[in-house]
Amino acid sequence: MQQKFIIDGVKPLIGEIEVQTAKNAALPIIAACILTDEPVVIEKCPHLKDIDAMLDIMRHLGASVEFDGDNLTICCHDVALNVINSDLTGKLRSSIFILGSILSRCRHAYISHPGGCEIGLRPIDLHISGLKSLDVKIADDRGVICCDGTEMRAGMVNLDFASVGATENLMMAGALLDGETVIVNAAREPEIVDLAQFINAMGGRVSGAGGSVVRVIGVKKLHGCTYKPMPDRICAGTFLAAAAATGGSITVNGIIPEHIFGITERLKQTGAKLGFHRNSIRLLAAPRPRPIHKLETNVYPAFPTDMQPQLCAVLARAKGSSVVVENLFENRFGYTSELAKMGAAITVKDRVAVIHGVPQLYGATLRASDLRGGAALVVAALSAEGRSAVYGVEHIDRGYEYIERTLTELGASVRRADCGS
Ligand code: UD1
Repeated sequence: MQQKFIIDGVKPLIGEIEVQTAKNAALPIIAACILTDEPVVIEKCPHLKDIDAMLDIMRHLGASVEFDGDNLTICCHDVALNVINSDLTGKLRSSIFILGSILSRCRHAYISHPGGCEIGLRPIDLHISGLKSLDVKIADDRGVICCDGTEMRAGMVNLDFASVGATENLMMAGALLDGETVIVNAAREPEIVDLAQFINAMGGRVSGAGGSVVRVIGVKKLHGCTYKPMPDRICAGTFLAAAAATGGSITVNGIIPEHIFGITERLKQTGAKLGFHRNSIRLLAAPRPRPIHKLETNVYPAFPTDMQPQLCAVLARAKGSSVVVENLFENRFGYTSELAKMGAAITVKDRVAVIHGVPQLYGATLRASDLRGGAALVVAALSAEGRSAVYGVEHIDRGYEYIERTLTELGASVRRADCGS
């Protein structure tokens, strides 16, 4: 049964929360479990639709997967299959992240093309050309990416663009190869550092992660380990944005503040006051947000594309006009037509949105069609006068662990209901 959120605004969010573990760190870490035949325990693994989809792929490949509370144990002792069909890849675009580790383990892989998604085309050319640099032979057979890694060897890879997924794939591909794999123009996101730490916790030799040259010295064998992935910087940013939108005052605990500097700097520009402690951030919102003259998304440490929709939801009520440029994904303003139903005044042309802030948004019936766009609708509904119904909750559940519970803890009125009710 599909579900919706019923949200009654406007209640300022007030209180203290603990942030969940990062989905975008946990996903590649789960994929990297294929690199060892010993059990791995991932602590505080979030319960999310995207994680479930990745675990379905792992089970399909022959892994045993067991959740004990929040601790996830994965054992890839008997990885027997190296074929992933479109019914599995279709559920999770980042299924392509598994290519490097399957190749490392089995030397052959056949994966259905993950295709596009709601926020843009999302090509995989960088993954493919990177693996080809390591002498993997790759052919596309009617939508199935057929990879032959029998002659695969360590080498130098120069990425034309610092892709997060391609960097992660190549780190996994190089982990068990004889010799040194050097990834030039690697992505520098904190999730890359986390994956490097995880591979090293299994006995790997990855260095330079977090910089633009990552070096992977292959080892003969990796062993099992227990690992706790990093906190979710985008979830933290989303709750801070929700507080900024509702004139609230919240503390987010369990965060690494420097990870979200690109976000907090922008929230400050909306007039919010921020206080930083070792593992927490406190935000005190302005009564009405200020506009941001120009907000551009870019690779880390700049303002992340995964926070663009949520911050635009804040700016929808700003006292003045903002210009937002989306540089990563060509189709990431889809949610703005939903915000318009609430009275927001946003015009979009190609990758640029101009937001004329309005004094008040009004509750409406809304439909989420992607994860972060869905989070933006929730942020807007929290700050809107009256009742909103947000459909398409399954998109939000891909990345937020029971978002309605966390928001309720902060005093919001959010209820999950079956769509039929
Ligand atoms: C990851 C994140 C996603 C985030 C994105 C950018 C995960 C599971 N997902 O996605 O939430 O929005 O980073 O921070 O970690 N590109 C190509 N060719 C490729 C690969 C990418 O042209 O082969 C382009 C993409 O279309 C996009 C840009 O590069 O325009 C960034 O993509 P990338 O960094 O690869 O993002 P993902 O790893 O897919």
